[in-house]
Amino acid sequence: MSSLVWVELDSDAAESNLTELRSCTPTDPLFCAVVKSNAYGHGVREMAGLLGSADWFAVNSLDEGLELRGFGVSKPILLLGHVPLNRLAEAVEADLRLTLYNDESLDVLSRLSGSDRKAMVHIKVETGTWRQGILPEQAVDFALKAMSIPKVELEGVSTHFANIEDTLNHDYAQRQLAEFQRALELLAEAGVNPPLKHTACTAASILFPDTHFSMLRAGIGLYGLWPSRETYLSALTSGRPVPDLRPVMTWKTRIAQIKEVPEGSFVGYGCTHRTTRPTRIGVLPVGYADGYRRALGNRAHVLIAGRRAPVLGRVCMNLVMVDITDVPDVQLEDEVVLLGGSGSEEVTAEMLAEWAGTINYEVVTAVSPFLSRRVVNSARAHQPER
Ligand SMILES: Cc1ncc(COP(=O)(O)O)c(C=O)c1O
Repeated sequence: MSSLVWVELDSDAAESNLTELRSCTPTDPLFCAVVKSNAYGHGVREMAGLLGSADWFAVNSLDEGLELRGFGVSKPILLLGHVPLNRLAEAVEADLRLTLYNDESLDVLSRLSGSDRKAMVHIKVETGTWRQGILPEQAVDFALKAMSIPKVELEGVSTHFANIEDTLNHDYAQRQLAEFQRALELLAEAGVNPPLKHTACTAASILFPDTHFSMLRAGIGLYGLWPSRETYLSALTSGRPVPDLRPVMTWKTRIAQIKEVPEGSFVGYGCTHRTTRPTRIGVLPVGYADGYRRALGNRAHVLIAGRRAPVLGRVCMNLVMVDITDVPDVQLEDEVVLLGGSGSEEVTAEMLAEWAGTINYEVVTAVSPFLSRRVVNSARAHQPER
């Protein structure tokens, strides 16, 4: 036992989630695994390995792309975010695909000299998220400009949905899809037909085959999490296959101290919890610096040997106190599950999200990259001993 707080990644769940999401599409498009932000907090080195059968990877920043290349990933890598103008050459040199929507980026690419490598460019079309991208009309001029630059190859065109996972009513997503189709038509009329067209995040991949085009671009589902309750309900009522997604991450720690606290004692910073009985407390060496959010104070519970232990008082930067009075036979350094299953109990990312007033995406993405990651295989663990 070397670390006191660690993350376990279920290789079987990761592989199975990829297969399940692939099976949602009738047309067999390429699968781009979104592993940005440390693979949604899971650990990008490990997840890139576990998702090795994906066709493409996507990350947000140039540095993330370079890191992935450094891990030996040779598959195409798409950068979803803005690459600083003065670092575009680095991206091209590392063969990282660019998502572009600024003329200034094309101007810099047109002046690149040196290597023979072409910049592989994906245009982002603004269809109603009002985040990144350019309007369909602007996309035509932008594409023609890109194509006029000898060292640029226009490889893709993409967009991203604003609320596809937020609602049971998908009118807005359908309007965005229609706007994307309109952009494709305008581009085609101008003789522009990039080989890759991609719009589908996890929710779109599961719910709407007409968003699949030539590539899916899915993240959260690969980690075994549903984008939202609404997406799950929409899938159940869609008549389409409902993927069996299994959480990849279990987050654990060990008890660092056990103490008896008299009735009427205040626990933790701010004295926000006062014991109402003689209480046995387990002190856990994890806190908001590790991504165990402060908002979980006095709300969450952890699992010890399949029993719930409520969090008492505020979550500190590096410590959390839990009530173990009703958990029998607890010993110093016993294992504690912060996220995941123990016996018949489970703390899900959705539960933590609800307690902390956020979404499952943020819960897992907040898990500190400094914690160690261990790859385990639930399928092998469940095989009967012979
Ligand atoms: C541009 C883009 N594409 C795809 C994704 C993947 O979305 P999801 O994790 O919902 O599958 C994201 C995630 O935020 C994104 O920003």
